[in-house]
Amino acid sequence: MCGIVGVVGTRNCTDILMQGLEKLEYRGYDSAGVFVTGSNKKSKLVKSVGRIASLREKIGIDVAGTAGIGHTRWATHGKPTEDNAHPHTSTSGRFILVHNGVIENFVELREEYLSNDVFKGETDTEIAVHLIAKFAEEDGLTTLEAFQKALKLIKGSFAFGLMDAEDPEVIYVAKNKSPLLIGLGDGYNMVCSDAMAMIRETSEFMEIHDQELVILKKNQVTILDAEGHEVKRPSYTAELDLSDIGKGTYPFYMLKEIDEQPTVMRKLISTYTDENGKMKVDPDIVKAIQASDRLYIIAAGTSYNAGFGAKAMLEALTNTPVELGVASEWGYDMPLLSKNPFFIFLSQSGETADSRQVLVKVNELSLPSLTVTNVPGSTLSREATYTMLIGAGPEIAVASTKAYTGQIATLAFLAKAVGEAQENPLAFEFDLVKELSLVAQSIEATLSEKEKIAAIVKKNFLTTRNAFYIGRKQDYFVAMEASLKLKEISYVQCEGFAAGELKHGTISLIEKGTPVIALISNNEKVALHTRGNVMETVARGAAAIVIAEEGAARPEDDIVVNAVHPYLSAISMVIPTQLLAYETSFQRGLDVDKPRNLAKAVTVE
Ligand code: F6R
Repeated sequence: MCGIVGVVGTRNCTDILMQGLEKLEYRGYDSAGVFVTGSNKKSKLVKSVGRIASLREKIGIDVAGTAGIGHTRWATHGKPTEDNAHPHTSTSGRFILVHNGVIENFVELREEYLSNDVFKGETDTEIAVHLIAKFAEEDGLTTLEAFQKALKLIKGSFAFGLMDAEDPEVIYVAKNKSPLLIGLGDGYNMVCSDAMAMIRETSEFMEIHDQELVILKKNQVTILDAEGHEVKRPSYTAELDLSDIGKGTYPFYMLKEIDEQPTVMRKLISTYTDENGKMKVDPDIVKAIQASDRLYIIAAGTSYNAGFGAKAMLEALTNTPVELGVASEWGYDMPLLSKNPFFIFLSQSGETADSRQVLVKVNELSLPSLTVTNVPGSTLSREATYTMLIGAGPEIAVASTKAYTGQIATLAFLAKAVGEAQENPLAFEFDLVKELSLVAQSIEATLSEKEKIAAIVKKNFLTTRNAFYIGRKQDYFVAMEASLKLKEISYVQCEGFAAGELKHGTISLIEKGTPVIALISNNEKVALHTRGNVMETVARGAAAIVIAEEGAARPEDDIVVNAVHPYLSAISMVIPTQLLAYETSFQRGLDVDKPRNLAKAVTVE
């Protein structure tokens, strides 16, 4: 993963780099570093293990210059140590490089071109800087030629920022598969993994495509294609709001983002319907889905769970079977596809490498695709045939919340639009504007139960090592997401289980006091069965907690969720589980927004 940032201009760039890195910290936070230089060629390289805050402390005030590159790391090859932290330098110190991605053939390249003693750390990245130095210093190539030659040899994913200490007013940039964007300013230019990290400085951006190399100077940006020919590309203005990226008075972004969900629901209504409540979904997407015989939803993690949350609704309204695929598994061999498949990529970031590798295959097969994402202009959005935006605003906390609910709601608009085009009576009966407004109200009601949830956590989750979420049908899908949320931020080992499956093995894990949280939405067919399963766990000592939907709830239940349309219950039922995960992490004194070992956008396969 990792995040990179670079700037070349006339002002002191240290703070611009540091602020950029702080905004990129979600991409990895086990070590960080900056290289700062300028026209006087006085340069400084500072690296630190741990968060950006540690790097800031180390930098102090005497690191200043007009050009520099910075990096925040999520370790892939090599432990989080200072030697493995970026920027990496060549032995002479002349070349300095930051990298996001994975160089797959680094061992082969090392054996063929370099001796082992030039390497200071264990990363795959170091090969790139040493290769460039070799081609420039031994073979007499210019920096540009040396970089181009190295790029031709390197296999894998990368976003590189390269500096030459002898020519400190230039940053060389190249990308393949990993995200990277140019930011244009007046008298300065920038490069960064994510537009959000540059919006303090500029709202004018330029895309970089795979295989391209960019030469960045303070007043000039030159893009070269893989053959070295110059490419002209217009810039665009991104409508990003700086206020979106602050956490205001909230202790953590996650809580702010949980609280934003009613607004996200209402915003989606105005995005995808007109003033008369009619669907406003791109007719080309609707037609493409009508022409398909199977929808393949490809996603990872929480987005994958969101796909399950929307599956029943999509099938009922579009009359088309829906198959879910874990992106990291589907990249290898496409399974046997239907005759006319349509692919839907669900991705908050739009940058998930696992999903992208499937999209690359889908594009090779010339199959139609849609990306549902929160990030306009993201890689998956650019490369799919169509895009639908969630518009949930930046999601900064590593644990995804509003993107999950936003994805299901966005798919509801899609499902209804396709259903109406197919004249499916169920689609006309489904009053989505009303139903989603009720969902927003239901979320608000649950948000007012924070104290109750905090008390449940205090009683049951402060010391437990494991826990279970159980549910049937739609509730089972919510259980999968609820357990992912709890484990990723509180480190409580938690499984989301189909309630009926417990007795087929897993029930042996229940001990005295093991929390078992049952999700019981208003589905007559399954509610009683799940209650039966709760009793089975209680008989074995479990501490049962019941989250039930109004209509299926009993007076003794712990949390009652306001009833919503069954197609949308995965949205309302997940809210208490998000709060429960948040509270558990918070009460255990953990960093809710930045759980260990994780990163927000997973840009390596
Ligand atoms: C969990 C979480 C991850 C992401 C997954 C996919 O809270 O956020 O599981 O859902 O890494 O990311 P996107 O949606 O950006 O493709």
